[in-house]
Amino acid sequence: MAVPEVKYSQLFINNEFVNSVSGKTFPTINPTTGEKICDIQEGDKADIDLAVKAAKEAFKRGSPWRTMDASKRAEYLLKLADLLQRDVEYLASLETVDNGMIITMSRGSVNRAVGMIRYYAGWADKIHGKTIPLDGKLFCYTRYEPKGVIGAITPWNFPIAVMMRKVATALACGNTIVVKPAEQTPLTALYIASLVKEAGFPAGVFNVVPGYGPTAGASLSEHMNVDMVTFTGSVQVGKLIQQASGRSNLKHVALELGGKSPNVVFADADLDYAVEVSHGALFCHSGQVCCAGTRTYVQEGIYDEFVKKSAERAQKRITGNPYDEKTESGPIIDTDQVSKIMELIESGKNEGAKLQCGGKRIEGKGNFIESTVFSEVTDDMKIAREEIFGPVQQIIKFKTLEEVIDRANDTEFGLAAAVITKDIDKALAIANSVRAGVVWVNTYGVVDHHAPFGGYNMSGVGREGGEESLSEFCEIKTVVIKVPEKNS
Ligand code: NAI
Ligand code: MG
Repeated sequence: MAVPEVKYSQLFINNEFVNSVSGKTFPTINPTTGEKICDIQEGDKADIDLAVKAAKEAFKRGSPWRTMDASKRAEYLLKLADLLQRDVEYLASLETVDNGMIITMSRGSVNRAVGMIRYYAGWADKIHGKTIPLDGKLFCYTRYEPKGVIGAITPWNFPIAVMMRKVATALACGNTIVVKPAEQTPLTALYIASLVKEAGFPAGVFNVVPGYGPTAGASLSEHMNVDMVTFTGSVQVGKLIQQASGRSNLKHVALELGGKSPNVVFADADLDYAVEVSHGALFCHSGQVCCAGTRTYVQEGIYDEFVKKSAERAQKRITGNPYDEKTESGPIIDTDQVSKIMELIESGKNEGAKLQCGGKRIEGKGNFIESTVFSEVTDDMKIAREEIFGPVQQIIKFKTLEEVIDRANDTEFGLAAAVITKDIDKALAIANSVRAGVVWVNTYGVVDHHAPFGGYNMSGVGREGGEESLSEFCEIKTVVIKVPEKNS
């Protein structure tokens, strides 16, 4: 498949593609080759101000968006979903050139975004309050009202899927939105902006300002006219965004951050199946996944065999051209991430973990790292504690159920966990005791927009997906009415 032609490289504000106020640009790089794809208009504070102004205007009382029936909002969203579906091949190809994601996964991401938009379109006219019995002669009901202007700051690892989950929910609830996509991957957000326009959304409802975190991202999080920021990315930046909220208008902040998710394999499991699930749990998207299964806890009876088979599997993994349908792992997003991953691999070796395979950068063009497996990893090692966000599997030995629960919970994170066993009691013990936003049993990585997703501890604040996420994007208003004595 050929590298796609880039159609949009400007900011999208008030339904128009425009240059940045400063006129500055920044390059976006193809991680497969290390070469520049094109220059993108670089937004910063001045552009964020314009985009927020447009979003606030679109949200004004009496505006087309505010006065529209909820079912009509759903129609716009359904139209947008149809347009994404129409352009699935182009969008997938754009995601692959900008991010390095393997093409099969890029296609899957677009299709998931289509599903998400349709799912939240379905909610648009079903966001109900309650009637609540109060003491006394009173009638009480609640209304779910849109929060207002939403700022969405998104990461580079799943540009389309992460952005569209936020956008679909925000718009279904009747908010307007300003998206600041990751500087590494702005292309698909801009193309989707053109589809939003084509779908006929009123101007200002959806805006995209590409740019860097400390400039564009920080301006959005500090903005006095932004009512909520929804962020996916690192813990470090999540903290900065909460601080920015505290310094400015106490805007609501929803955070989906990193993880160090345990994947517990009991000795009774089907060994080949457990090896394959655990391999996929870690190496999917070259390990650049917030909920990757990075702490593979394996029970002692099968440990050695599991390690041997996992290393064999990792050595067979096809890493290379993401446009090749057979490729399993594409490149790492950028050279900064490559350096971070290589440092962590070195620390693993230095701290005494046993390198079973991989461990090296692949020579030549692009940002490729070998699929790497460490055994004899202990809980105190840096590679067992820090998010690596790369193709590096840690296999850790455990003895008993009680012990592994405590060890699984000994982390500052809590995004996901998994257990592989044929014993329902063990599965339930893990599901009930591990403090994580999602627990998978005999599978891994199912993140589906029908169900809530989010983190305990430092893995985040709030939930995305499912019905739960509607209350994140709405204010809940309580209305209390005095009922005349004679009518009660
Ligand atoms: P990051 O957290 O710096 O970037 C995510 C987004 O935040 C980008 O749009 C960026 O421009 C923006 N941002 C950066 N600084 C900001 C600031 N001061 N104010 C507002 N927005 C700001 O993540 P980065 O540097 O790309 O990756 C670093 C590590 O973060 C990775 O190695 C990984 O461990 C983790 N990460 C986790 C993700 C997840 O899915 N939970 C996604 C991406 C990264
Ligand atoms: Mg960064």
